[in-house]
Amino acid sequence: MNIAVIVGSLRRDSFNVKLAHAIAKLAPREFTFKHSQIGDLPLYNQDDDANQAPAVNRLKAKITAAKGLLFVTPEYNRSVPGVLKNAIDHASRPYGQSAFAGKPAGVIGVSVGAIGTAIAQQHLRNTLAYLDVPTLGQPEAFIQVNEGLFEPDGGIGAASRQFLQSWVDRYVAWVKMHAR
Ligand code: FNR
Repeated sequence: MNIAVIVGSLRRDSFNVKLAHAIAKLAPREFTFKHSQIGDLPLYNQDDDANQAPAVNRLKAKITAAKGLLFVTPEYNRSVPGVLKNAIDHASRPYGQSAFAGKPAGVIGVSVGAIGTAIAQQHLRNTLAYLDVPTLGQPEAFIQVNEGLFEPDGGIGAASRQFLQSWVDRYVAWVKMHAR
């Protein structure tokens, strides 16, 4: 079960990158999580649809090859970061050749704010619905950064582990159901 992971932060010490790695540790061994590079994508320009850049083709190939998608995103100004929207716009085009249709997805995120990316996730769900991406509805996971969220080995801290494990279990079942 090959999962394409798309993280909405390019920051070196990104909490969302850490969360993506922690999620991978909680998944069964049959699941392989492959991170998608989005920082080198050009800004989307519809003029380029007939001749997409190599970085765009690479992203689309990764999504096409995946059985499922995992979006892990911060919230920027009460929405998704522009780098994530840019990546989604690229992989959704040209019209009729979206890489996304039918790929089951999970949406999760961590932020320093108390609502833990809730609004960014809702905006992302709108976009994914339009792209025909069946997205896990429950449980929702809005995670706020706090002391001890991550353990030194990159695992999730004790206070959040059971909750995150239940999220991963539901996500795994969701991907398997749609992969059949
Ligand atoms: C933020 N941050 C933020 N946090 C939040 O909870 N809601 C928000 O709307 C915003 N808006 C916002 C805009 C911009 C431009 C930046 C740079 C930051 C703070 C954000 O949660 C924090 O920077 C996280 O650390 C970002 O996630 P990564 O990079 O650690 O994965």
